[in-house]
Amino acid sequence: MEDKLLQTPVIPLVQASDPEVAIRTSKALVDGGLDVIEVVMRTPEALDCMAAIVEALPDAIVGAGTVLSAGQAGSALEAGAKFIVSPGLNEGVVEASRTGGVPVYPGVNTPSEVQTAWNLGLRTLKFFPAGLAGGTPMLKALGSVFRDVKFIPTGGVSASNLGEYLAVSSVLACGGSWLTPADEIAAGNYDAVTTLAREAAGIAQSARG
Ligand code: 3PG
Repeated sequence: MEDKLLQTPVIPLVQASDPEVAIRTSKALVDGGLDVIEVVMRTPEALDCMAAIVEALPDAIVGAGTVLSAGQAGSALEAGAKFIVSPGLNEGVVEASRTGGVPVYPGVNTPSEVQTAWNLGLRTLKFFPAGLAGGTPMLKALGSVFRDVKFIPTGGVSASNLGEYLAVSSVLACGGSWLTPADEIAAGNYDAVTTLAREAAGIAQSARG
């Protein structure tokens, strides 16, 4: 998973209520060069959408985001999640993910949260909400103290600041919803999603060489 993110350090978010739309959106992302996909558990149909993507795109790495509880993590794992992301840090979610044998990326944005996660043995953390929590200066400050921790900033990341985030040495990858605009998807304009994915993959390539 983390080797994959080193190659293409961008994780698009997919929020869907219809498995067909979820598949078409994910296919558009893969066509644009992004094949690590986070399906957020924010709709009643999110699990079905994730399972449908897992089946339709077996070569993509599909995980579950916005996982709030151990129970939700267990359901996501049963539906085929290859990684688990949370907005905050919850030990139950961490344990359930570990039991399922998949990486877990809980959200943090203070030194105490990073330290708590570090003491749980975690070394890769989501930094959320990145823009509001201090952006790249905060990431640099955290990185200078927690030398073996890698961050995945999400929340306020877009094509306009992706390169800046990826230039921070402690940043493993960035995530976000800018790659899957609801209005384009509602209009069936999946080419727009592919174009955004390709643009992000290009920015990542320039930032990482
Ligand atoms: C997340 O769950 O990571 C955030 O909702 C992403 O934030 P964004 O919508 O600003 O990309």
